[in-house]
Amino acid sequence: MTAGLGPASACPFLSALTAEQAVSMERRIAEFDPFGEAYQRDPAAAVAWSRAERPVFYSEDLGYWVVTRYDDVKAIFRDNVTFSPSVALEKITPPSAEAMAILESYDYGMARTLVNEDEPAHMPRRRALMEPFTPAELAHHEDMVRRLTREYVDRFIDDGRADLVDQMLWEVPLTVALNFLGVPEDDMPTLREYSVAHTVNTWGRPAPEQQAAVAESVGKFWRFSGDVLERLRADPSGPGWMPYGVRQNAVMPEVVTDSYLHSIMMAGIVAAHETTANAAANAIKLLLENRDSWDDICADPTLIPNAVEECLRHSGSIAAWRRITTADTVIDGVDIPAGARLLIMSSSANRDERHFDDPDAVDIRRMNAGEHLTFGFGAHQCMGKNLARMELQVFLEELTARLPHLALAPDQEFTYVPNTSFRGPEHLWVTWDPSRNPERTDPSVRERRMPVRIGEPSSKLISHRMVVAEREQVGDDVVRLRLEPLGGRPAPAWTAGSHIDLDCGGLSRQYSLCGDPADGGLEIAVLRERDGRGGSTFVHESLLVGTEVRVRGPRNHFRLDPDVHRHVFVAGGIGITPISALAAEAHRRGDVFELHYAGRSRRSMAFAARLRERFGDRVNLYPADEGPRLDLNALLEDPAPDTRVYACGPARLLEAVTAATAAWPIGSLRVEHFAAATTLRDPASESAFEVDLIESGLTLTVPRDRTLLQTLRAANIDVQSDCEEGLCGACEVRVISGSVDHRDLVLSEGERRSGETMMTCCSRARGPRLSIAL
Ligand code: FES
Repeated sequence: MTAGLGPASACPFLSALTAEQAVSMERRIAEFDPFGEAYQRDPAAAVAWSRAERPVFYSEDLGYWVVTRYDDVKAIFRDNVTFSPSVALEKITPPSAEAMAILESYDYGMARTLVNEDEPAHMPRRRALMEPFTPAELAHHEDMVRRLTREYVDRFIDDGRADLVDQMLWEVPLTVALNFLGVPEDDMPTLREYSVAHTVNTWGRPAPEQQAAVAESVGKFWRFSGDVLERLRADPSGPGWMPYGVRQNAVMPEVVTDSYLHSIMMAGIVAAHETTANAAANAIKLLLENRDSWDDICADPTLIPNAVEECLRHSGSIAAWRRITTADTVIDGVDIPAGARLLIMSSSANRDERHFDDPDAVDIRRMNAGEHLTFGFGAHQCMGKNLARMELQVFLEELTARLPHLALAPDQEFTYVPNTSFRGPEHLWVTWDPSRNPERTDPSVRERRMPVRIGEPSSKLISHRMVVAEREQVGDDVVRLRLEPLGGRPAPAWTAGSHIDLDCGGLSRQYSLCGDPADGGLEIAVLRERDGRGGSTFVHESLLVGTEVRVRGPRNHFRLDPDVHRHVFVAGGIGITPISALAAEAHRRGDVFELHYAGRSRRSMAFAARLRERFGDRVNLYPADEGPRLDLNALLEDPAPDTRVYACGPARLLEAVTAATAAWPIGSLRVEHFAAATTLRDPASESAFEVDLIESGLTLTVPRDRTLLQTLRAANIDVQSDCEEGLCGACEVRVISGSVDHRDLVLSEGERRSGETMMTCCSRARGPRLSIAL
């Protein structure tokens, strides 16, 4: 048991409860058992009560403070000075004297590694060893991962029954890990035994009689790691991360030290494969338990990258990490003394309803699935995250293509190695009918795969298969389409102001949604642009009733302000589409609004009559061929208090609205653009700049011919993106210091002036340096 630095003051959560509730809460806290069955089965569910009512509590039995909400866990990851990782590999159960003696007999001396070292040692070492983890370097491993996975599937594909853990999910990641590390593929079962022993030794609660056997295996693992390292030292010229580390040791011995290499050798073997093996078993189990999700990725493999993120979120292989406070601090209103040990439950954070809608549901199209904390966050985020993602993606691609009829074997009991931090079933039995294996009739099934897109946000690939259910001419050259999901699935939810990306015969085009979010479909209205880029022509000529289409989104960067209830809506031409949805939403809310709608002629103005019919004289129409022009200067001359102006239409209309509202308070105007921003001009006219990533502790150079987003990706930093044209706002980051050359079409003038955020896909530094919150 760890000496407890327990509660020093009254807990604000407890004092808000009745006496009866407080007793029940105290009982739950006392019963918290991270080695018990409920925690092993589903750690997030086991502390649902904590997320709801007591997100920070002290476990006497464990000697740890337990933290369970998303924002708190993320904030702790972010601040690795107040919350030191130095206890991350500490034995959570103190070893017996006998176990200690055994470990000493092997000269066991696990020192700090990347996982548990403090600054200033950590970041220089991380930088020195990072290159093999960059997406460009990882891409070299994809063929090997795929070949291995196919070989293992070949071994059981005709059997009709397999334990995926024993027959594939342990050995493939282990082989990949050894290849990645550049370590010889020694005896697999022995390495597996060593790895499990290391987990139990560090994060488990072995019974006294187990301790000697565990220590024996850990000692042998330590010796094995040392032997391998000696061989690599003799010839460090080969490929792999460990030879790379040995070479870096020669160049910068004070950064990549000798003792460090031995420890990272052993920790690396475990970290690089055990978490992946467990994550894969969890993911396959979860998807087979949620059959619709499994069937969806079988039918549409482009959904697999985001399904991987959703599985990592919902049932990742990391239950919790540990930290120790270096100063008195406060977490979610609870005073925590210096020296307190923390169990920060990333598994629970990933199911926090404050961050994820309907968090217990498995939704493989969840747009923010990738925001899970399974890989940690900030300077200590898992370096191997993209290798793990690649393996999980390849496993799911191979299994769904070759065994789509796979099912969980009935009546199996899932067992887990009891420990606080890593979880995955020890066995995963699946069954199928080999006579239905697709490759028996179509051998090409073995070959068809898409390349893994390492480091790209999976949300970009989320799509919905829909069908054109209605088609209607709603103006000269304007057609309205109603899209409904295939197969009776619910339509994706959307809010007024949203847009979708529609696949137009290989082109992706953005269209704002019109219609009513409540009626279970998606509606767009598309103007045929004779000299456009082809999207509108495709819609007009090819999308007939019954045509299947692929849709991404919806996403919304043009929302009605929830706190303001007076609005002026301005639309030009086809810009009426999002404006009509906003007006409907304002009407539903009972807000005060007026709508001004200009067009070439009444016949060209989609929905004009319907809007007049529905909203009466709050709708003002300005058909150019009938005389009265929309006079924006007169309309917007006087800033109106507590009022927002929303505008969508051609660029010249938006410029005019912007000019007319120049005297309005900052943030009064919101606009939706049709055309993309200029992301990168002629590289000859661009300047390179430095960017400090405050949370990751890195400094990168953004060359003149690359965007900031491209530079971040190349350095293994996760950043969301969608349009990559400055239109959608998905790649927004917080700016800490430096002046920004804003080139997006998302931020308002006021937001640009405040300089608090920027879009990484297009905006750049005005000077030589920027600091951003990544
Ligand atoms: Fe859309 Fe940057 S990705 S604005």
